[in-house]
Amino acid sequence: EKGGYEHYMLKEIFEQPEAIRNAIRGRVDVERGTAILSGLGLSPRELVEFQRLLIVGCGTSLNAGLVGEYAVEDFAAMLGEVEQAAEFRYRNPIVGSKDLVVAVSQSGETADTLAAVREAIDKGAMVAGLVNVVGSTIAREAGRGVYLHAGPEISVASTKAFTCQVAVLLLVALKLARGRRMSREVGMGIAGEVLRVPELVEKVLESNAAIADVASHFVGYEHMFYIGRGYLFPVALEGALKIKEISYIHAEAYNAAELKHGPIALLDEKMPVVALLNRGPGQEKTVGNVEECRARKAPVLGVITEGDAEAKAACDRVIEVPECSHYIATIVSTVALQLFAYHVARLRGCAIDQPRNLAKSVTVE
Ligand code: F6R
Repeated sequence: EKGGYEHYMLKEIFEQPEAIRNAIRGRVDVERGTAILSGLGLSPRELVEFQRLLIVGCGTSLNAGLVGEYAVEDFAAMLGEVEQAAEFRYRNPIVGSKDLVVAVSQSGETADTLAAVREAIDKGAMVAGLVNVVGSTIAREAGRGVYLHAGPEISVASTKAFTCQVAVLLLVALKLARGRRMSREVGMGIAGEVLRVPELVEKVLESNAAIADVASHFVGYEHMFYIGRGYLFPVALEGALKIKEISYIHAEAYNAAELKHGPIALLDEKMPVVALLNRGPGQEKTVGNVEECRARKAPVLGVITEGDAEAKAACDRVIEVPECSHYIATIVSTVALQLFAYHVARLRGCAIDQPRNLAKSVTVE
């Protein structure tokens, strides 16, 4: 049942190229530089008239939603917002008919996310589900949406759901962008990049042994920081969440710019820093932060673009991932951090598929 893998988590990490292929199949129109998401049921007029894309979710799905927020602002120049589903629900949120609300949930049964869906529907917003489990409560109640087609996710620590969610959210952002003001040429570029994702992920998986070796140097720590900027900030959040869940190492994620506003006080040789450094806007600034970390003796592990000598020189150790657009790097780097967390947990002897205190779906508030 685990297909020869030691854990479901590892099996599902390795299923990602196929899962992402299924998630994007028939949904990328390279010729027209757009996405085909008929389940959203949006008319050309609606695409133009929405004033905001509001994304709600919890945990890993929330982290994927943050990539969606960045992408919709970046691609569509449209206001994007992401909110933790319970916060949204209990804040008497400002939401209405000018909003497209996307509820992101692997299981489709998360109580807080379901409550947020009901609240948004009550307030007159258009609500779509981005759900993996077919026929689940959120999928049914949202009434419209896009299924992930990632296949069953058994591991408590979510992996393939995240990367499929991000791939589909990029397509949602592309669709909104092309319905508004993005040119066909630019859209074609993004569509082409999304189609490359499965192959890029395959390349990361080929580094499994190298990542396991890197992980062996981080097994003995009790705390870690993860830092990234822009699109790589959600990756830092997701990387830190994975290591917490399965290895029980206390990890915190920061936007790299935030370090000097307080957290830097904690840095010393016992606080390794995982820095997301795959080329993208602001990378030189993150390299500067890495230097500040090392000046305080914090060991730095960089996730860098293959062949980036400058980033490599700035770090103590590196995981190299293939070159790609910065919005695609969200997926590629996350896969590297999933494997890193997996190997750290394995080497610490943790019960990876049965992390303590966690259940696969959180159906109580
Ligand atoms: C993390 C994890 C959880 C879930 C969260 C939401 O690995 O699995 O954080 O992402 O409980 O679950 P879904 O996506 O089913 O709504």
